[in-house]
Amino acid sequence: MNKIMVIGIGPGHRDYILPIAFKKIEASDVLIGGRRNLEIFKDFEGETQVITKELDKILHYIKSNRKDKKIAIIVSGDTGFYSMLTYFKKHFSSEEIEVIPGISSLQYLFSRIKEPWQEAPLLSLHGRRENFVEKLKQYKKVGLLTDTIHTPENIGKILMEEGLDHATMVVGENLSYSEERIIVGEPKEIIKNGPYQMTVVVIFHEE
Ligand SMILES: C[S@@+](CC[C@H](N)C(=O)[O-])C[C@H]1O[C@@H](n2cnc3c(N)ncnc32)[C@H](O)[C@@H]1O
Repeated sequence: MNKIMVIGIGPGHRDYILPIAFKKIEASDVLIGGRRNLEIFKDFEGETQVITKELDKILHYIKSNRKDKKIAIIVSGDTGFYSMLTYFKKHFSSEEIEVIPGISSLQYLFSRIKEPWQEAPLLSLHGRRENFVEKLKQYKKVGLLTDTIHTPENIGKILMEEGLDHATMVVGENLSYSEERIIVGEPKEIIKNGPYQMTVVVIFHEE
């Protein structure tokens, strides 16, 4: 039986995708991914399937076609950091899946600002609320995935409510794309500079 490939494609630009990811994708019959991610593989000659919120449809497709077709699912950033791998692991055994890692959007932002990240807790506010303020106070540095509710402006507002007006926020927007922007400032400046598109945020706070 064909293995189902789950492939991390990094922050978005082709230069940040591992050669093995390209090889595995080229060897596949079907490429499944979000619309933005599929755009990167416009030259893919096989079949493509767009992932929507109706995950059960994709699951059904994979279950009914995996015997006859080699299927690759592409996810943004790294497979091990808040990706669909968690979902697929609930439905397939480890033997049925093969995973190729990618560069996480946060890992990429840390490299752009030339900062090590080994001591920074990395959290996701993408579809969830995590207490990042507590972690920031404890570790002095945190990295956050955002979404349309937990935006950089919203994060800035929370920091100000918590009295962290002088924390330094780094907003990485559309990372690795030609429209990439990296904006650094205190919460009130970050709020003023919004709105932002797709972002991750790193915060530094020295007491
Ligand atoms: C479902 S999570 C996936 C995280 C991914 N697995 C990773 O390792 O980066 C989606 C979030 O990743 C972040 N993200 C992914 N690609 C990005 C990019 N090119 N620029 C900025 N943020 C990005 C955004 O915070 C977005 O809301």
